[in-house]
Amino acid sequence: MFGAIARRYDLANHLLSGGLDFFWRRRAARIVRSWQPERILDLATGSGDVALSLRRACPEANIIGADFCVPMLRQARSKNSGPVVAADGLALPFAAESFDVVTVAFGLRNMASWPGALAQMRRVLRPGGHVLILDFSVPPAPLRWIYRPYLHHVLPWIAGWLTGERGAYEYLGESIERFPAGEAMCQLLREAGFAQPTAERLTGGIVSLYTGRV
Ligand SMILES: C[S@@+](CC[C@H](N)C(=O)[O-])C[C@H]1O[C@@H](n2cnc3c(N)ncnc32)[C@H](O)[C@@H]1O
Repeated sequence: MFGAIARRYDLANHLLSGGLDFFWRRRAARIVRSWQPERILDLATGSGDVALSLRRACPEANIIGADFCVPMLRQARSKNSGPVVAADGLALPFAAESFDVVTVAFGLRNMASWPGALAQMRRVLRPGGHVLILDFSVPPAPLRWIYRPYLHHVLPWIAGWLTGERGAYEYLGESIERFPAGEAMCQLLREAGFAQPTAERLTGGIVSLYTGRV
């Protein structure tokens, strides 16, 4: 699915979010900078926009992007987002305790097992390391009343026209409805062995940002 939309992925993101995606990624990068990491894994790096924000925020850090979709990684390479590795988030090819921070933006939601992916992230983090998850969520009312019709009807229609892959964007709405948010995500983080989970709503709750510590 991501291979089919790879070439138009960035354009669709920026248009459909009204440019807010730049702000969401910058906010995530600023939090990561406060942790002063040396080695960062950007999992589900896709077209590399998070890795690029991280490079700007943490110029001294060694940042690796990983994703299992090669056409998306090609987009990342064309933008010089830094080194990338073709890898499945459910079987990461990295040694235990090899990163200070793992970020995953709009990626965990798409993985076949959320606990399985979180367990892999925890495994590759050193003791004291941090995870940061950025993903869509359904905002509370009254914003939800406008957001849901946009998400399930308007967005797939525009994105289908832009990318020729309307099904991928119908899936987007369904996956957002299924994905745990707020306290439910904090609980998932605890169950995966992360301490001090935090949740922050961005843009009225259209997006949520979670952190946890090993
Ligand atoms: C919506 S894109 C997000 C890309 C990027 N992080 C961003 O913020 O724009 C989701 C990405 O997750 C990747 N992905 C989904 N499941 C994966 C898995 N099991 N292992 C690695 N990457 C995965 C897809 O290939 C896709 O590039």
